[in-house]
Amino acid sequence: MKYATYVFDAYGTLFDVHAAVRRHAGEIGPEGQRLSEIWRAKQLEYSWTLSLMGDYRDFWELTERALDAAFALVPSADRAMRQPLLDAYWKLDCYPEVPKVLKDLKANGARLAILSNGSPAMLESAVKNAALDTIIDEIFSVDRIRRYKPHPDVYDMVTTQWRLYPSAISFQSSNRWDAAGAARFGYRTIWINRSRQPNEYPDHPAKLVLPSLEGLITAS
Ligand code: LAC
Repeated sequence: MKYATYVFDAYGTLFDVHAAVRRHAGEIGPEGQRLSEIWRAKQLEYSWTLSLMGDYRDFWELTERALDAAFALVPSADRAMRQPLLDAYWKLDCYPEVPKVLKDLKANGARLAILSNGSPAMLESAVKNAALDTIIDEIFSVDRIRRYKPHPDVYDMVTTQWRLYPSAISFQSSNRWDAAGAARFGYRTIWINRSRQPNEYPDHPAKLVLPSLEGLITAS
C-alpha cells in the first residue's frame, strides 16, 4: 500500500445504482434494466446540464426527476413503483468486495473518504446502511460547493481541506468520465471498470484499471 489517502466515488463505485430496480425487478417487468439505465443516464445528464448553465439542484432532486423521465420513456414499467424505487435508492447495496477492501485499507493506516455528487443525506444513508460509517473518515459532497463532477472545484475540496497535493491521493471511480476529471485534476486515478466499458477519454487516462476494488491494496 503506497498511498495514505484513498478517496472513492460513491455511485457505481461503492454502491450499486442498479440495485434499486433489481430489488423490485418482479414488479417492474421485463424492461427493468432499461428503466434503470435511463434513470442513471438522466440523473447524470441533469448534473452536467445544470452545471454548464451555472445552476444547481441537489442530487436527490435530480434523482427523482430522472426517475420520472425514465418512467415516461419506458411506459411498460409500473409507475406505482416510483416510491418503492426512490426508497430503495437510500439503501443501495454496496458491491460485495467493498467492506473488506475498505477495512483492510483502514487497518493498514489509510485515511478514507467519499467524494460524490450525492447529497449529504443520501450519502450518509447509503454509508450507514452498508455499515461503512465507522470506516469512512469523511464524506465530501458536491453540495458544499453546489457544482457537480467533473468540475475541478469538486476534486479540489479534498486537497484543500486535507492540505495535500492531488498526486498524494489515490482516487477510485467506476465512472470513466469521473476518472477523467480526477486524472486531469492530478489525482492518482484508478478506473474501476466493473462492466467492461470502452476506454473513453483517452486524453485523460487513469493510472490503473481494475475490474473491481479487489487488488487495490497491492496495486502499485
Ligand atoms: C458520484 C456519481 C458520479 O457518486 O456517481 O459522484
